Amino acid sequence: MQVTVKKGNFDIPCDLLAVPIFQGVQLPKELSEFAKSIRKEVFDGKENQVLLLDTLGKGKWKYLLLFGLGEEKELLLDKFRAFAGSAVRASKSTQSTIVCAIVPEIKTFQKTEISQAISEGALLSNYKCTKFKSKKGEGADKEPEFEPKEFSIVSADIKGVEAAVNRGSILAGAQNYVRDINENPANIVTPQKLAESAKELSKNPNISCTVYEKDALKKAGMNGILAVNQGSDLPPVLIMLEYNKDKKLPHYCVVGKGITFDSGGISIKPSKGMHEMKYDKTGAVCTLGIIKAVAELGLPIRLTGLMPATENMPSGSAQKPGDIITMYNGKTTEVLNTDAEGRLILGDALAFAAEKKPDAIIDLATLTGAIIVALGPHAAGLFSNDDEVASALMSAGEKTHERVWRMPLWKDYAEMIKGDFADIKNIGSESGEASSITAAKFLQEFVGECKWAHLDIAGVDNIKAAHPYMEKGASGIGVRLVVLALEMLAAKK
Ligand code: BES
Ligand code: MN
Ligand code: ZN
Repeated sequence: MQVTVKKGNFDIPCDLLAVPIFQGVQLPKELSEFAKSIRKEVFDGKENQVLLLDTLGKGKWKYLLLFGLGEEKELLLDKFRAFAGSAVRASKSTQSTIVCAIVPEIKTFQKTEISQAISEGALLSNYKCTKFKSKKGEGADKEPEFEPKEFSIVSADIKGVEAAVNRGSILAGAQNYVRDINENPANIVTPQKLAESAKELSKNPNISCTVYEKDALKKAGMNGILAVNQGSDLPPVLIMLEYNKDKKLPHYCVVGKGITFDSGGISIKPSKGMHEMKYDKTGAVCTLGIIKAVAELGLPIRLTGLMPATENMPSGSAQKPGDIITMYNGKTTEVLNTDAEGRLILGDALAFAAEKKPDAIIDLATLTGAIIVALGPHAAGLFSNDDEVASALMSAGEKTHERVWRMPLWKDYAEMIKGDFADIKNIGSESGEASSITAAKFLQEFVGECKWAHLDIAGVDNIKAAHPYMEKGASGIGVRLVVLALEMLAAKK
């Protein structure tokens, strides 16, 4: 499906015309012919209400889709992603090849913002992972997905709209790229495979890739990564991608947790739901997507992506509760629970990032179950030692609708991870009190004086219930958020 821009209005010929309508507002006069037959009870523009009409040859289009935006004063930009999602769904059910979506004239948002959001919603809603069905159609549980050929964003004034749609396409494309890699289970995407995906990105002349293999990690003393890897038959890697590496530009590091499967290790997880731990690599895969988007947008920043990757498995050689390890920055850690592994691999990677003295570090990690208890699927946990970095992420999240909620990092919580026998321990209390915060405090031990933000994305890494523009499965949430936050931070420098 191609997203394009067309200059025009309601009389544009297509198979399906999609029009967003505010609650209680009359249909535009161009659609007055249809207005007569629509009862208020059936459609009056309520939020997310959808009406799909067969025009029976009365219009320039076979189908007309009306989408309710709700009250104008409560409008969020995200409604336009949902609008595009409903248009893509309708195009599938009606087998409409050419879809046109009208960009409305409204006070709250600019045409360019709306157009970007529509293009994002269209592309995100069109992604579905079908690659593991043996034969598409036959033998699979569904017919092959119909896909519109062209999704056009229609506006009378298209100034700036092409650029906005291009931006939306790059961002949603990177998010779908993340979803597609992340959906792969652990027998397909191993740490080595993640490294291969990173190498693939480095075909772009502005990106270079370095993969630190097990020997290099040993030499460097990255014992957090090595300890977690001990129980796995597959070697670990620390993947580094550098965009604009030699340029004098604001420099940021993005660090992503790359546990390709988290069984818990010797502190093994219950089997119920364990398969979802294939998504424990989300932070690393998002990091790939962020680098891809930043490079395709050609943003004037320098960006280093660091992705420590390993499985967390139990075996005769696995690390054991009580083990004491010396992390890359020299801090000693008691491993009291081998299931708190993310912070061990991230500790090394964050300390390595901090040595580069970037302007800020942002990490993404499916770090704790407790953040799901606190925030559910509607926000990622944000932890930061810097108000400016935190604000950039908060306001970026409002715009991209990948919302974040800031949690405290008070030093009282640091007490909870003081070690009995080593400097620190990898869990707070056995009972799990404040365990998302103690996890973040653990990470903070490795960033030194660097400005840093940690995003705990355990609640948003995959979609489990109905969503206005994403199918169930890997969400890729975090990509558009971090790219926009980096742009905002760089613009302030
Ligand atoms: N990868 C998990 C966190 C997680 C849980 C992500 C559920 C997505 C869904 C992480 O490695 C983990 O196991 N965390 C433990 C920490 C605990 C042992 C202190 C947790 O949250 O239970
Ligand atoms: Mn774990
Ligand atoms: Zn984990």
